[in-house]
Amino acid sequence: MTENKQYRILFVCLGNICRSPAAQTVMEREVARQGLQHLVECDSAGTYSGHTGEKADPRMRYAAGRRGIDITHRARQVKSDDFERFDMIVAMDDSNYDKLFRLAPTAEATDKIYRMCEFFGKRFSRDWSYVPDPYYEGSEGFELVLDMLEEGCVNLLTRLEPTLKDK
Ligand code: 4NP
Repeated sequence: MTENKQYRILFVCLGNICRSPAAQTVMEREVARQGLQHLVECDSAGTYSGHTGEKADPRMRYAAGRRGIDITHRARQVKSDDFERFDMIVAMDDSNYDKLFRLAPTAEATDKIYRMCEFFGKRFSRDWSYVPDPYYEGSEGFELVLDMLEEGCVNLLTRLEPTLKDK
């Protein structure tokens, strides 16, 4: 990771092989589309360490690849330094969100924790309050997650624009 980016976003799920590496890569594409790559850095991590070092799940890589999204991240577990390094930490579901609150080293650090569903728009905000875990699902589960992340990441970046302009 480069050290000079001015705003850092960490996406977090359980295993860091399905939802959060997809969120990271969807957001990186959106950041690049908007020409903000010099300002925004994205990364992802899991609350569970069991997949550390692995590439994203092949089903997620396949589904994302069909949308032109190339996920190259290797899984890692969230660590307490992440609360210093990142400006925003975005949980995929309530379980990840609660775990992040328990891991946060200080009360101020908890101000950085968000839920991905806070950025859902017209399509998903009414019926969904989390990004569902696709690990035990069929291919539709992966498509649904990608649809949610594409909508959420666009909205998240729009929400950040005033902050980035101040940088
Ligand atoms: P993720 O999906 O949290 O979106 O990466 C999962 C990956 C692995 C497991 C559960 C969910 N697992 O139980 O190993």
